[in-house]
Amino acid sequence: MKRRAAILISGRGSNMESLLRAARHPDYPVEIVLVLSNRPEAAGLATAAAAGIPALAIDHRPFKGDRGAHEATINAALTTARVEFVCLAGYMRLLTPVLVEAWAGRMLNIHPSLLPAFPGLHTHERALAAGVKIHGCTVHLVTQGMDEGPIVAQAAVPVLPGDTAESLGARVLVREHAIYPAALAALALGVVALSPGAEAALLNPLPLPATLP
Ligand code: GAR
Repeated sequence: MKRRAAILISGRGSNMESLLRAARHPDYPVEIVLVLSNRPEAAGLATAAAAGIPALAIDHRPFKGDRGAHEATINAALTTARVEFVCLAGYMRLLTPVLVEAWAGRMLNIHPSLLPAFPGLHTHERALAAGVKIHGCTVHLVTQGMDEGPIVAQAAVPVLPGDTAESLGARVLVREHAIYPAALAALALGVVALSPGAEAALLNPLPLPATLP
């Protein structure tokens, strides 16, 4: 039986689409049962709804800065949907312990850099400014530190002469779309798991993205 996952977004939702696409494959071990956004206007919500996936907005603004109460409401929706895993896919809110503790070991995030390099925002601009020759993306388990959790998957791309943040970001995004479905499958299958007190327990080598839909 497929495991049940939700995706949290704030905007465009291209990583969400890559997860939905993978989940359509009969052999993929996860089904996406809910897409949730803190922004009702997020384009990804309409995309999810058009694909027949329950799509829900829980706007953070009416909570007037009470982040814990906002997350408790999200948590209730995740519980109602009997979600087992949560994927942050361009979810642009810092999380409080309400969500981080509830989903320890069961929540992934995708970040557009090769962590631990360039946590935070504007990663492609910062990579170009730093003059790195290799850039990329990371899927990691979510812990309380921002962009700090144990790394599940990474993909690297070259930085090419003449690159702009846009051209580099587009090259990275293609790789994001490959590694996120692979990382979620690995977590759902128990190939990777958070080991208490350890950084990450890699129980088996991570299957290559190419082997997954
Ligand atoms: C992606 O590049 C993702 O890695 C990044 O936001 C973009 C969302 O695009 N996430 C972060 O920067 C989180 N720190 P998408 O909505 O098309 O998936």
